[in-house]
Amino acid sequence: AFVVTENCIKCKYTDCVEVCPVDCFYEGPNFLVINPDECIDCALCEPECPAEAIFEEDEVPEGMEHFVELNAELSEEWPNITEQKDPLPDAAEWDGKEGKFELLEK
Ligand code: SF4
Ligand code: F3S
Repeated sequence: AFVVTENCIKCKYTDCVEVCPVDCFYEGPNFLVINPDECIDCALCEPECPAEAIFEEDEVPEGMEHFVELNAELSEEWPNITEQKDPLPDAAEWDGKEGKFELLEK
């Protein structure tokens, strides 16, 4: 399955949602996750993310491995999102910032 990682936090551009053929994105306050049981590995979302936050689970960058389990967990709790919406207000400023994991809202 594909996995949303740290750089989505506080950006949430949602371009990914628009292209997913199986609607397997789930939305929290400042982050999105993919349900690994529903993702069909089509890879369409990966190039769409302006924050380059999406990776195939075997290619998640070093130090971000915990996002694999986090996507699985939070996708069971958060509501489904099927349509693109505006990014978070300060998305451009937060894009690329380090240490955003501690700012994740659940
Ligand atoms: Fe959806 Fe395809 Fe991305 Fe999986 S890889 S989340 S099915 S767009
Ligand atoms: Fe997040 Fe990128 Fe989608 S920032 S909401 S994974 S387009």
